[in-house]
Amino acid sequence: MLRLRAVALYEIRGLAKRFGDNVVLQSIDLEVFEGERITLIGKSGSGKSVLLKLMIGLLRPDAGTIVFEGEDVTRAPEREWIEVRKRIGMLFQWDALFDSLDVADNVAYGLREQRVLDEAAIAARVSECLAQVSLPGIEAMWPASLSGGMRKRVGLARAIASRPDVVLYDEPTEGLDPINVTRVDRLLDSLRFGSGVTTVVATQNMQSAFNASDRLALVHGGMIAKAGTPDELREWGDPRIEPFVRSSELRAKTRPSVPS
Ligand SMILES: Nc1ncnc2c1ncn2[C@@H]1O[C@H](COP(=O)(O)OP(=O)(O)OP(=O)(O)O)[C@@H](O)[C@H]1O
Ligand SMILES: [Mg+2]
Repeated sequence: MLRLRAVALYEIRGLAKRFGDNVVLQSIDLEVFEGERITLIGKSGSGKSVLLKLMIGLLRPDAGTIVFEGEDVTRAPEREWIEVRKRIGMLFQWDALFDSLDVADNVAYGLREQRVLDEAAIAARVSECLAQVSLPGIEAMWPASLSGGMRKRVGLARAIASRPDVVLYDEPTEGLDPINVTRVDRLLDSLRFGSGVTTVVATQNMQSAFNASDRLALVHGGMIAKAGTPDELREWGDPRIEPFVRSSELRAKTRPSVPS
């Protein structure tokens, strides 16, 4: 019998991370499958951002393994991580645009570091990415003159600039009004389906977590307490997930309709 098997882009086993006495992650087991949109949920301080930083090699784990695209990168030296990072995009929680650089230079930042494209190709790629996030032609603007929603989208353009296989989005909708939340959610999907990018999101926004994900993973007590489809998590009935489910239902009732 022909059986389709999901390909794991990330296979994470027993991942642990502490800062001094603060044990943040005890033993994280998580698989991320090619093409899916998986969302990490969990209360503030549960370690979602730390997990994403481990997944892109900006922090190093104390124990456990990270296999990315079949390659064990857990103890890879920085020069190998630089290569691996070319296949991973990241939107940081605090949008991390450089206020001293214009939009074009912000979007081009990672591309220049990678030293693969020449300046003409970088300019073309920057324009293409800005168009993909519905901000064509704003190359010469400065971050300080952009709205919060625009800054997020410039951050998205930078995250996808190197055509990564996977993008890690840390709180992509934080601080946005409900209309922009829905807009950014749609944008993540258009980037995903348009370019086949696997999408990992960390968010406190239960509206987008439950409505826009293929799977959710609850980070609790330094572990993945549960991973599954939104329906599976709703039906789980565990007190640890109840507040998240309730909040998603409350928000769903007041979901705005968005002109596209
Ligand atoms: N570089 C660091 N040095 C020391 N402690 C850190 C560092 N980064 C994170 N922590 C600690 O790790 C814990 C988890 O933080 P993290 O930012 O991952 O939480 P989070 O789940 O992303 O929260 P939020 O939903 O508020 O974004 C916190 O206790 C935080 O203080
Ligand atoms: Mg965080």
